[in-house]
Amino acid sequence: MDTATDTVTGHVWPRTAAWSADGELHLAGIGVRELVAEYGTPAYFLDEEDFRSRCADWRAALPGGDVHYGGKAFLCPAVAGWLAEDGLSLDVCTGGELAVARAGGMPPERIVFHGNNKSAAEIRRAIESGVGCIVLDSFQELRRVVEIATAFGRVQPVMIRVTPGVDADTHAAWATGGEDTKFGLSIATGDAAEAVRRVVAEPAALSLVGLHSHIGSQILDLGSFETAAKRMVAFRDDMELRHGIRITGLDLGGGLGIAYRPDDPAPPTPADLAATLRSVLPDGLKPAVEPGRSIAAPSTVALYQVGTVKGRFVSVDGGMSDNPRPAMYGASYTAVLASRASLAPLRAFTVVGKHCETGDVLVRDPELPEDIRPGDLLAVPCSGAYQRSLASTYNHVPRPPVVAVRAGQARVIVRRETEEDLLRLYP
Ligand code: LLP
Repeated sequence: MDTATDTVTGHVWPRTAAWSADGELHLAGIGVRELVAEYGTPAYFLDEEDFRSRCADWRAALPGGDVHYGGKAFLCPAVAGWLAEDGLSLDVCTGGELAVARAGGMPPERIVFHGNNKSAAEIRRAIESGVGCIVLDSFQELRRVVEIATAFGRVQPVMIRVTPGVDADTHAAWATGGEDTKFGLSIATGDAAEAVRRVVAEPAALSLVGLHSHIGSQILDLGSFETAAKRMVAFRDDMELRHGIRITGLDLGGGLGIAYRPDDPAPPTPADLAATLRSVLPDGLKPAVEPGRSIAAPSTVALYQVGTVKGRFVSVDGGMSDNPRPAMYGASYTAVLASRASLAPLRAFTVVGKHCETGDVLVRDPELPEDIRPGDLLAVPCSGAYQRSLASTYNHVPRPPVVAVRAGQARVIVRRETEEDLLRLYP
């Protein structure tokens, strides 16, 4: 294998990615042609070393703090196991994510349970399995948690999800810190303060271990995190004074953005975000963060095989079922020819999927060699977050596998779905 070139070491590729002299992309030392011969396309290839090194970066950035990986970005039992081994904790937001976390061996006390509408059954399961923290999102839920914790004779550690009134610069679908949101309880309306009062009034069922805010996702401006942290610290000080209590934890959620295309500016690092938080947080307040995308996305490359080329349209064997983000959010990606070198001039194509709608676009305007042809492999980097986790079986297309690669070895951590899996749903 050749040494890595700039295109491949840029911030959109996994850290072990490299090109060979004959133009083939290698991941963790394995050529993509060999990977595809074994595992097929489309498939997500997750570079384990990259994923775990990004976990380590977050841990190093926040000594004495907690890093709860945001499981919604991508979760399977193998990943939960890595997180458990590497000292992270895990943010889950449904009973299903809780089940996967437990199946992967994540200790329950390191699980934080989120969600704006947890069912009574989910709350029961969370308390029964001993989750470390439930993040309360409404007054009704607060009541339900009191009732269920009381029934189990437990004092459940909780945080309150607080809406700090910060409108971060991101896609409207991912912004959660402003006033008009379904998440959390607002500082401005007094609901957050009322929630603290109600939690403090239930010492036999609830113990307030911290306050939580999550202002949104894919945020590149550290100023928004800084404003949120300042408001949360002021709110905490106010609550401590008002109730004569100590609130020792502050969880500022996830949301650090990434670069999806080589020409995007380099994003802030975990260390940059941690320095911003340190400048705001007083001593004695334990910080926590919940990064999902910034750990999972860059670790994974999706590989597709070209089936047809017609004018500017390059059709591949996946599409909006394995990556709905371009269709749902207008998200931008890059695609490169990964299976061979080509000296043909580059020109703009549109990479589309195999689904029955015009919106089924994967990459809008990649520059690809003019001689792109059926059988070529296309690699789409930054495919590790909110792709497999958002994947559907639209048009009854079975969902692709996730294959972990590490030091020349590959292993399936999520198997490819089959038509039999789909048919099993029908009575
Ligand atoms: N914590 C909470 C409470 C969250 O709601 C989220 C993401 C995270 C942590 C992790 O945020 P991250 O570090 O990954 O930005 N489907 C969208 C993203 C939705 C984000 C949902 N919440 C997408 O495809 O971009």
